Amino acid sequence: MRRKTRRAAARMEDIAPFYVMDLLARAKAMEAEGRRIIHMEVGEPDFTTPQPIVEAGKRALDRGFTHYTAAAGLPELRLAIARFYAEQYALNLSPDRIVLTPGASGALQLVMGTLVDPGDEVILADPGYPCNRHFVRLAEGRAVNVAVGPGTDYQLDHHLVRQFGSAHTRAVMVASPSNPTGTVVGIDEMRSIHRVTTDLDAHLIVDEIYHGLVYGRDAESALSLSDDIFVINSFSKYFGMTGWRLGWLVAPEDFVRDIDKLAQNIFLAAPTLAQHAALAAFEPETVDILETRRREFQARRDFLLPALRDIGFDIPVEPEGAFYLYAGCNHFTDDSFAFALDLLDKAGVAVTPGKDFGNHAPERHVRFAYTTAMDKLEDGVERIRQFLR
Ligand SMILES: Cc1ncc(COP(=O)(O)O)c(C=O)c1O
Repeated sequence: MRRKTRRAAARMEDIAPFYVMDLLARAKAMEAEGRRIIHMEVGEPDFTTPQPIVEAGKRALDRGFTHYTAAAGLPELRLAIARFYAEQYALNLSPDRIVLTPGASGALQLVMGTLVDPGDEVILADPGYPCNRHFVRLAEGRAVNVAVGPGTDYQLDHHLVRQFGSAHTRAVMVASPSNPTGTVVGIDEMRSIHRVTTDLDAHLIVDEIYHGLVYGRDAESALSLSDDIFVINSFSKYFGMTGWRLGWLVAPEDFVRDIDKLAQNIFLAAPTLAQHAALAAFEPETVDILETRRREFQARRDFLLPALRDIGFDIPVEPEGAFYLYAGCNHFTDDSFAFALDLLDKAGVAVTPGKDFGNHAPERHVRFAYTTAMDKLEDGVERIRQFLR
């Protein structure tokens, strides 16, 4: 028998690594040898943080804002986020319901920690953002990974929620736009999902981290449907602040005290400098920069989607947001991980294998991230074309 001191807790068996990190390490080693690699695997904007936010961060540092804030965050930032909901979505939210967190990751942990009892089930889309099922596991819950495909735009819908819901369902989690597919759940379908979730006596959790990056139309927040939905967002993606580690959660009023209590214990508070910097995120000059970037992401999608389809990747549903294309590669391989390694070795293009996003046909998919400049994307597509030939 292995000694207890020699092994980690049983739950660690269920926590999978990010397989793309192996690929990234290999890509870095190749770059160190002088190879030029086109990175289409990275899940963060290539743009650095907008200058007004950086300046606000520097000022905060100079002014000695280096102590903890309240666990729920700076009151003025909670107010600024409430105003953002008023301006962006015409929603009137009390700042008291907004809690600043270390990234959306922190918000996800707070929600799962607050809601999930051992054995409780949380319904998730597969493919989906892999950390979600791990957060459920961390709370000793059970992730119910529901296979989704083109028929439902790679998202959960109310039929699936009804089908997979049970007396054990504690929550239903939707990310819109989604990682890895970039597809959006429309507000009418979200309303139906909410209704079925409520019928199950469960909570709806909606991750809106890619909301700022929806193309061609304005996205509606799930908060417009009800005050009892948990909504997660972040300064990471649209606001270009991944490394600052700052996100937020909008919680139903009767859960705020518990969320606050858990935040006090797990994080004490979100990073202070990041919070002061983020106060500049809603300033008009920052918004101008962010909107220019959004248009650039849209132009990249508009280039990459037809280009990949043209060389034989299957992308049946047009992604409306985020910066990902989840592409079927079964014309070329039935082992997307080996395919991704081969693509890196032979063509110098890094992509993420489907394996990182769940168990539903991962070997037949890869994810392309258009988080790299247009000329590099063009080069990448040409390299893939040559490789496939
Ligand atoms: C859908 C989704 N949610 C949450 C996160 C976590 O983001 P962060 O903790 O940087 O805010 C990510 C990051 O890739 C994501 O794709």
